[in-house]
Amino acid sequence: MSDFKKLLKVERLTGEIDIPGDKSISHRAIMFGSIANGKTTISNFLMGADCLSTVSCFRKMGVTINIQEGQVSVEGKGLQGLEEPTDILDVGNSGTTTRLMMGILAGVPFHSCVIGDESIARRPMSRVTKPLKMMGASIDGRENGQYTPLSIRGGNLKGLRYESPVASAQVKSAILLAGLQTNGEETIVTEPHKSRDHTERMLRAFGVEVYEDEKSASLVGGQSLQATNIFVPGDISSAAFFLVAGAIVPDSEIVLKNVGINPTRTGILDVLEMMGASIEVIPHKEHSFEPIADIIIRTSTLKGTTIGGDLIPKLIDEIPVIALLATQAEGETIIKDASELKVKETNRIDTVVGELSKIGANISATDDGMVISGKTSLKGNATVSSHGDHRIGMMLAIASCITNEPVQLEDADAIDVSYPNFFEHLSSLSK
Ligand code: S3P
Repeated sequence: MSDFKKLLKVERLTGEIDIPGDKSISHRAIMFGSIANGKTTISNFLMGADCLSTVSCFRKMGVTINIQEGQVSVEGKGLQGLEEPTDILDVGNSGTTTRLMMGILAGVPFHSCVIGDESIARRPMSRVTKPLKMMGASIDGRENGQYTPLSIRGGNLKGLRYESPVASAQVKSAILLAGLQTNGEETIVTEPHKSRDHTERMLRAFGVEVYEDEKSASLVGGQSLQATNIFVPGDISSAAFFLVAGAIVPDSEIVLKNVGINPTRTGILDVLEMMGASIEVIPHKEHSFEPIADIIIRTSTLKGTTIGGDLIPKLIDEIPVIALLATQAEGETIIKDASELKVKETNRIDTVVGELSKIGANISATDDGMVISGKTSLKGNATVSSHGDHRIGMMLAIASCITNEPVQLEDADAIDVSYPNFFEHLSSLSK
């Protein structure tokens, strides 16, 4: 049953929040800890539903994972130590769990079956099943391995040189994780634009030699992972909602603490700067090979811009909230080269354009993005929906901070996927 939440305009937003752990990094810490030798500890782990799906899948493969107050420990079993699951591996709503785990399952000599929710069932999986089959894994699934449910029998992999047609860290990571399980062979993945490199960085933290340059990443199979301690930085994709909120709500100043600023993820900061926002980034020292900063954002006068090309993979998850930002900028904002939005948790071109239109935005869909004209005064008195997509839900909740009448948000629970304390943070900043 879908739930409704009534959201009210706020006067201003001020204060400081600690952004919850990065979703991409939390998934990887569980997975790499599970296939490492020894005990890995993870601090600031994201307790969102997606990352808990990863925990549950690896527990089903015999890994002991203890969770206590944001502190997680994983008793690694080594790459050869995972056990054949007696139950299906349910990934819930999580594309990262599905695709990265497939890379691990491709190399292990047992059978497994992967299934998820109705959003996962619509998302393309042949982008990983195809290269993994080329490496020697036996994979089947609905429509020839294009969609879940998927069934995998792994083992006996050979190295691969792969030119990925999409810039996708999930695809790159799945191939590298399979490549680790070859017998000393090299695996290289090249992409049209560089995608997030958390896998490469974290594998190094686990003692694996990984090479990366402008557009490719490679490693040699047969290397083992040694357990380590991982600190998960705050998720810049979660911080993005409050960066936009701070910029568009009058009289605001928000301090976001401990945000990961890996350069493959900071497109939102570039866009805020391009649009003229008042933003300050105060770097700290790195943790687990990932750079971290505090970020201060203040209410700003914004101007429209054009976003495309290499910038897209650096902000792909932030586009829904960037579209909202653009409604408050003078002039036109064009988002292009972003057709990947169509295969996210929802078709985010359709859901962003549809929902923002309901509250009066001047926005239209294009084949590979959207065009927004501003500045528009957003109206309330509308029922909007997350469509079960966490980032659409949070974008709409931030939009409601500046609508002149209340907004009803349908399916607000979806937000738990990546930011379980989102509404607490929003109300702690609301004045
Ligand atoms: C992710 C990669 C991105 C991103 C997703 C998380 C990851 O997906 O949209 O939220 O953790 O590797 P793609 O690799 O499909 O672009």
